[in-house]
Amino acid sequence: MRTRYSYSLYLRFKDWLTGPFHSASTRYVRHLRSKGVKVGDGVVFRDAKSVTIDLTRPSLVEIGNNVDINVNFTIMTHDFVSSVFLNRYNELINSSGRVKLGNNIYIGRDVTILKGVSIGDNCIIGLGSVVTSDIPSDSVAVGTPAQVICSIDDYFSRRKSLCLEEAFEYARSIRQNFGREPQVEDFWEEFPHFVSGNKVDCYPTLPIKRQLGKAYNHYRKHHKAPFDSFEDFLAAAFSPKGPKALDK
Ligand SMILES: CC(C)(COP(=O)(O)OP(=O)(O)OC[C@H]1O[C@@H](n2cnc3c(N)ncnc32)[C@H](O)[C@@H]1OP(=O)(O)O)[C@@H](O)C(=O)NCCC(=O)NCCS
Repeated sequence: MRTRYSYSLYLRFKDWLTGPFHSASTRYVRHLRSKGVKVGDGVVFRDAKSVTIDLTRPSLVEIGNNVDINVNFTIMTHDFVSSVFLNRYNELINSSGRVKLGNNIYIGRDVTILKGVSIGDNCIIGLGSVVTSDIPSDSVAVGTPAQVICSIDDYFSRRKSLCLEEAFEYARSIRQNFGREPQVEDFWEEFPHFVSGNKVDCYPTLPIKRQLGKAYNHYRKHHKAPFDSFEDFLAAAFSPKGPKALDK
């Protein structure tokens, strides 16, 4: 039963864990580089076929290292408003500008970046944003036109304060919606709440190494989970006194 359940979870996340987006992304990065676009290491296109990167002037596009790009992403380094000028004034007016993405950026779904824009290092660009002017390093920016809503430090602190309650809510939703007990494999992103660095080997069915990437060794050495085990975590999530009752 347990094996069948693990296998069905594996099938559910197979594409996400092993490709095909990884290989499509690698091919797309190779294609961009072959056209002359500067693309750093660790750049991931979650759905390369939905991406539009303006290759009319490839030398104007630069993407740094570790940029994670979601579905329906567009970079435009030009427009052709001159079509109107041509009809109205008989003049051809060129229009183009650099787009530069720094290092360590997360781009949500459906984001467009227009010509002349730089995004600094360590930024998050929210879903649906149209970025029309520079975004400074260490910022979270959202909207149309995209505006900075907070610093990455503030956002990190806020996420840290909310994530345990979100993990509890997820556990409860599994029991409520599926009528079954949550399994350790369900918590492929939430495991830091119950897997300390020295207990990583006790959870072979979790994709811990893959999820943590470069942070894996640091996690193994330093991470102290607030709960000693998965069972303690679940007991807290379902505690009649409220989910925080058993939290340390
Ligand atoms: C940027 C992001 C991470 C912020 O999420 P969040 O922590 O829930 O943000 P908050 O709810 O605290 O929002 C703060 C403010 O920004 C606004 N906001 C948040 N995301 C926004 C967005 N994408 N577009 C416009 N406004 C947005 C909120 O309305 C809120 O405004 P208010 O202070 O006036 O009420 C999130 O919006 C986002 O875009 N996530 C990426 C989703 C995605 O692409 N997932 C793909 C996974 S494969």
